[in-house]
Parts: sequence; structure tokens; C-alpha cells
Amino acid sequence: MKILVVGSGGREHALAWKLLQSAAVHQVYCLPGNGGTASLAHCQNVPIADQDFDAIGHFVQTQGIDLVVVGPELPLAMGITDTLQAQGIRVFGPTQAGAQLEASKTWAKDLMTEAGIPTARAQAFTDAAAAQTYLQTQRLPVVIKADGLAAGKGVTVAPSLETAHQAIEEAFAGKFGIAGQQVLIEEFLMGQEVSVLALTDGLTIKPLLPAQDHKPIGEGDTGANTGGMGAYAPVPWVSTALMSRIQSEILEPTLQALQRAQIDYRGVIYAGLIITPTGDPQVIEFNCRFGDPETQVLLALLDSPLEDLLWACVNQHLAQTSVRWKPGFAAGVVIAAGGYPGPYQTGHPITGIDQAEVQGVTVFHAGTRQEEQLVTSGGRVLAVTGRGETLPLALKQAYRGIAAIQFQDCYCRQDIGQRSLNLVPVEEG
Ligand code: AMP
Ligand code: GLY
Repeated sequence: MKILVVGSGGREHALAWKLLQSAAVHQVYCLPGNGGTASLAHCQNVPIADQDFDAIGHFVQTQGIDLVVVGPELPLAMGITDTLQAQGIRVFGPTQAGAQLEASKTWAKDLMTEAGIPTARAQAFTDAAAAQTYLQTQRLPVVIKADGLAAGKGVTVAPSLETAHQAIEEAFAGKFGIAGQQVLIEEFLMGQEVSVLALTDGLTIKPLLPAQDHKPIGEGDTGANTGGMGAYAPVPWVSTALMSRIQSEILEPTLQALQRAQIDYRGVIYAGLIITPTGDPQVIEFNCRFGDPETQVLLALLDSPLEDLLWACVNQHLAQTSVRWKPGFAAGVVIAAGGYPGPYQTGHPITGIDQAEVQGVTVFHAGTRQEEQLVTSGGRVLAVTGRGETLPLALKQAYRGIAAIQFQDCYCRQDIGQRSLNLVPVEEG
């Protein structure tokens, strides 16, 4: 089997790495890929932009590629799946209509409201003055969200009216371009965050293990939001009873709502959840793709061949396909360039990856480029992923790997996983 992975981050390196562990996968192409995918055996980077659908279609046809897996949201929201499917190409990832789940927070909110899916109460505005008036009636903190794709920067959790006012003003002034010309004012939900990624073939939906991301740059969840500074799975306090509720109250109704909208969704539905203090799961966002860095830890634990699962989604036999896991936990810690998520430098040589990759540790590349030597080329540079029997052991492995790696001004959070280690496990039942 020949598979094309679209994207260039840590998620795509992990997808390529896991696919190539199977004897059934002969060749992976990564478009455009990164320094990590460049160095994988049987993996080749393809210098085509992920939004150049004509060139991608041509490449897939000429190389005889069996399956295209789309990593990032932007090509999905722009209709990569529709374009390639029209040429008879098999694609893992939703059509443009399905990608609205992530690409329009208003659309996703309406879908949830109509389907009775538990989610934070919200009101949408296309007019700044009306938004500012409504804001006066809201309790603090309040959440302001740009409707469209804003590279993870479109959400402000505002502790004061002043911050909320400013967020609305900036969105309508064009800070997020067209993505901010519609704004959601949303109720703030207290609780613990969990990411549940699920695979669907449009008929059946199956959850992966629950994972937890760490979005803020600073320890103790302080500072600016990033694409994700670390993740681990499974989340020890998410019981099987809670997972059943997430399946029946959120994932299945979401799939049914998509079906009612005549959307044939084959890919990942990523539910960003808050578990309230009363133990109830509520949706705070949907993504239409694999998460980053959740994918790195999930694939480190996946026992089933990944291509079987992706193929089952694309060919609609997911109900007959089981998702098996290795025992234990995985934890991934992101090493970023100093300054990220603000301005940062690139081009710094990276050393120590070979020493880091001892048994049970895998280093997934994100912002790296292979020149004469490996150098940094992005804000999030590497995700060092450890496996262990327990969460503390997995974290220890990841941090042992981190200690071996060096580049100028590198930064990582030292407290990945601490939120769960500090929580008492929830009783089963
Ligand atoms: P998003 O980009 O939608 O994932 O939002 C970024 C972050 O903002 C989330 O990871 C949450 O920490 C926070 N957030 C978003 N919506 C809410 C909400 N309704 N209540 C509390 N926190 C939220
Ligand atoms: N880890 C968050 C995301 O992929 O959006």
C-alpha cells in the first residue's frame, strides 16, 4: 500500500511513523513533510504545498497512491477531500461540508444545539455594537471566539469586561481576517479538559483513548495559548462510565446530526470537552482532524495497524474493525523555540535526538528541516514521547529524552501531566 500524508507537523510525522510499522505499507509520502519524515525509511517528502489540490491530485494519480490522509484543518476546510474524491481518490478526512465542524464555530454550535448535545451556551454576532451590548448582560469570566479558523489563536477567555470588549473590537477590526467577522460570546465552563478523538466512517463512530493537551505556554497553565505544549493518554480519571456517556451523549448524536445534514463524514471527529465539577461532559469545540500533539501519544499506544483503521473509515467497514491498544500510558512533551508563540528564531542546529531515542522514547519532529544537519524551522520543534506502565513512568521517559536534546534557546514545560497526577482518580461505576 502507498499512502500520502498531507501536512508538516509532529502529527504527520507520527502518522507516517505508525503507518510504516506495518508490513502492508510499502511507501509513505509526506506533503510537504519535515526533517523527521525526511529521515524515515520508506518515507519521502514531496515539495508540493498542502493547498495546491491540482498538483496533489496529479501526484497521487501518477504515483499510484492508494490512500490520502489529511493532517491539517485548512486543506480540509478548503475542500481537498471533495477535489480528490471527484478524481476517484480515496481520502481520509471530511469533505468541506463536514469540515465546518471546525471551520465555523457558529455552524458547529447550531448543530449541537439542534441535536441537544451538551455544550456551553453561546450567542453569535456579525455586528460589533450588538456584541458589545450583549456582553454587558454576561457573567464573568466570559469566552470570546472568532467564528472561523484562526490557527488556535481565536479564543479569549476574558476575566474582565475590558478584556472581552477588546477581544470583540480586535476581531471585528480584522485581527483574524474573515474568520473574526463573526464572533461567538460563550459562557465559561469550569472543569477539567479532555480531548476525545474518534474515528468515523459516516456510519459508526469509535473513540480513541482519552487524551489531555496543555495549551498555554507557561507552567501551571499560564500565559499565551499555543498549538499544544504536551499531551498524555489515557487520562487516568476518565472512567469507562464517563467514556460511555461521551459516546452516547456526544459522539453518536454528532454523527447522527451530520447524517441528517446529508454529510458523509469519513475521518476524525475530535471533541474538545470540559468535564464539569458535577462530572458532566460538555463540548467546547470540535476539530475535524487528528490533534497535535495528542496524535503523537495516541499512536505511540495504538496496537492495531493504523492503515487498517483509516481504510475501514474510508471504505465504511469500521463497525467490523477493532481498535486495539498497548497497555500503559504515553506522554509527549513539546520542545519549542524560545519566544514561541511570539516571534522566535529558526535555523538553529539540533543535537541529541539519537541519544534521546532509547527504548520506549520516540522523538517526533514538527518544526525541523534537514539541511547538512538538522535545524529548527518552526515554533514547536519536537515532541518527545515516552511510554511507560504508569503515567509517572511515561513522563519520566519523556523528560529523560528531553534532557539529551539541545538547541539554542530551547524551551519546554516541566509540568506536563501534573494536572492528572494531582487529581484523585474517579471511581468506576
Ligand atoms: P479552543 O480553541 O476552542 O480549543 O479554545 C482554546 C481554549 O480556551 C480551550 O482549550 C479552553 O481552555 C478554553 N475555552 C474555550 N471555550 C471555553 C469555555 N466555554 N469555557 C471555558 N474554557 C474555554
Ligand atoms: N491539540 C489541539 C489541537 O490539535 O487543536
